[in-house]
Amino acid sequence: MKKFPEDFLWGAALSGPQTEGYALKEGKSASTWDYWFKENPEKFNEGQGPEVTSNLYERYSEDCKLMKAIGLNSIRTSIQWTRLLPDGKIVNADAVAFYRDYFEKMKENGVKPIINLFHFDMPMWLMEKGGWETRESVDAFSFYARTAFECFGDLVEDWTTFNEPMVHIECGYLQGFHYPAIVDLKKAVQVGYHTLMAHVKAVQEFRKILPKGSIGIILNVSPSYSRSESVADLKAKAAADLLNIKSFLDPVALGKMNQELIALLKEHDLLPDALPEDQKAIAENTVDFIGLNYYQPSRVQAPEMAAYPAKALEDFYQPYDWAEKKINPYRGWEIYPEAIYDVAMMMKNDYNNLPWYVSENGMGIADEERFIDDSGMIQDDYRIDFMKDHLSYLHQGIEEGSNCFGYHAWTFIDCWSWLNGYRNRYGFYRVDLENDYKRSVKKSGLWYKKLSEQNGYEA
Ligand code: BG6
Repeated sequence: MKKFPEDFLWGAALSGPQTEGYALKEGKSASTWDYWFKENPEKFNEGQGPEVTSNLYERYSEDCKLMKAIGLNSIRTSIQWTRLLPDGKIVNADAVAFYRDYFEKMKENGVKPIINLFHFDMPMWLMEKGGWETRESVDAFSFYARTAFECFGDLVEDWTTFNEPMVHIECGYLQGFHYPAIVDLKKAVQVGYHTLMAHVKAVQEFRKILPKGSIGIILNVSPSYSRSESVADLKAKAAADLLNIKSFLDPVALGKMNQELIALLKEHDLLPDALPEDQKAIAENTVDFIGLNYYQPSRVQAPEMAAYPAKALEDFYQPYDWAEKKINPYRGWEIYPEAIYDVAMMMKNDYNNLPWYVSENGMGIADEERFIDDSGMIQDDYRIDFMKDHLSYLHQGIEEGSNCFGYHAWTFIDCWSWLNGYRNRYGFYRVDLENDYKRSVKKSGLWYKKLSEQNGYEA
């Protein structure tokens, strides 16, 4: 039996915009997603938008019982900024009542809420003023964070500021996938810097309002592996890790910007505008813990042709198609559980063994209904195998001293996933969109219950 440390968190992650529905109802204002769907519904898989998602707003009482039923002792979800503060200033009483009841119901069911503040859902009123491109966004976010701590701090002890800040930077400002769909490396760096400072200011507020609580951030880690040991490939790998991992992890965990990253940005004339007092604020507001989302590694090689100074990430490193890679055929992502061990060792060796947890890990499946058996249950053995393999490398990392306190799967119930709509299903519960959003447990949900009860699994 592979046992995990006492009080290990066995849970799942969610986000407000992907589950709640009730968009633009009960006082909620538009986020970029509500706006973009209205303007360009054809960009969204099968025209599935953010209005209903998993209909959790109406079903959260039942859902909290379902969390308990599969052994979840913790859930991370997010508050929607546009629901709590529709105009950025005045608190929406309906939102406070909803979230308070939701978090209370979780607790009644033995589920610890870990509450995140931002999961890609920028308010439209702020985006119209420039969003993360403007320094104003830092103050607006810190006000929102303070409001959330004041409204829910008596119920929630554990908080996170952002989910995967690299994703809103890359998808919104480098790849054109998310609104505002700009492709501009210099702007992307500035957006990243403002996001970092928004996080830092939120932590500063947190220390004043909830000194006994703990706060962290959720970062996506795709550790990079280089094509070869050549100087050029290793330089590409170093750049990928600097830009994608150390850019956030160093300042939030160690209280200082990574100097190699600063040198790289300077060399390419990409340094963001900053205020003189920012360094001090970064140094004084490190986190209590880190959440790391891991799905797949990043295979990199030196660019064949690179603009100088760099104009795009591809000028620093390029993807490399490793012939031996194992692919999830239902999502196209590489499956490489070994990387979880490398992440665990990175936290131990490079980040002072700061407490951390796996805040997302999971397997997305397109057309998952093909795996429904005669009894009506999805037989998702592929998901169980995927998680077991990852847990085995995580276990090894913990045995070797990495300070990991939990594992959260993505996700509890099938949820709406941005432009992908409901294409890729990840949940322990199936959500039947054709049948009044009915939830039904998948085989993996029953397996997870046992895992949580035993605090481990038969190896
Ligand atoms: C994670 C995000 O990175 O990936 C989630 O935090 C997202 O918001 C999940 O839903 C799955 O993404 P996809 O593209 O496979 O649906």
